[in-house]
Amino acid sequence: MMVFARCSAVPLLLLSLGLASAALADEHRVTGDGIGAFVVEDGKVDPDTYEGYLVYTRACMACHGPDGMGSSFAPNLIRAAERRGWESFAGTIASGREVQPGQVMPSFADDPYVMGNIPNLFSYMRARGEGGLGRGRPRIIESMQEQDDEDDASVEEASGED
Ligand code: HEC
Repeated sequence: MMVFARCSAVPLLLLSLGLASAALADEHRVTGDGIGAFVVEDGKVDPDTYEGYLVYTRACMACHGPDGMGSSFAPNLIRAAERRGWESFAGTIASGREVQPGQVMPSFADDPYVMGNIPNLFSYMRARGEGGLGRGRPRIIESMQEQDDEDDASVEEASGED
């Protein structure tokens, strides 16, 4: 009985050590709860935050400047996300705004690509601010990449002819 126990204990120990290190590698520090949550690790980000970068670059950068930094025409969105919070951030994108005459923030209510990505835009801005993410195109954390491909596939299926 004792002999049997000793023999099986070694592979069991190795197995549990292997599982423990795999679990550690897969555990990413998510910052913030719910909307606007993000992961920044060694300058890399989770897939949603990366998507936020892409949407920002396509739809917002022309006015708000590269990497959320603002321009002479439109304000810095990293600070806006920090100070004004989710509701104001999302509300402004949906409704548009013109506080200073001639400096128009357009409404994106009719743009499903932007409207569907507001949480990702918010995550990207928060990653740039409190997450300390640097400028430029971030890379995706490798171990989170595969999951994203699956998500994208299911989104494409769901959206049909779009
Ligand atoms: C045509 C130029 C233009 C584009 C494109 C644009 N914005 Fe703006 N945005 C502005 C201007 C100008 C303001 C300032 C409006 C004001 O307060 O009078 C603004 C304000 C904002 C604010 C409020 C900032 C604050 O300090 O409260 C948010 C949030 C915002 N924009 C997000 C976005 C996002 C996200 C996108 C891309 C999906 C985007 N904008 C695209 C011009 C633009």
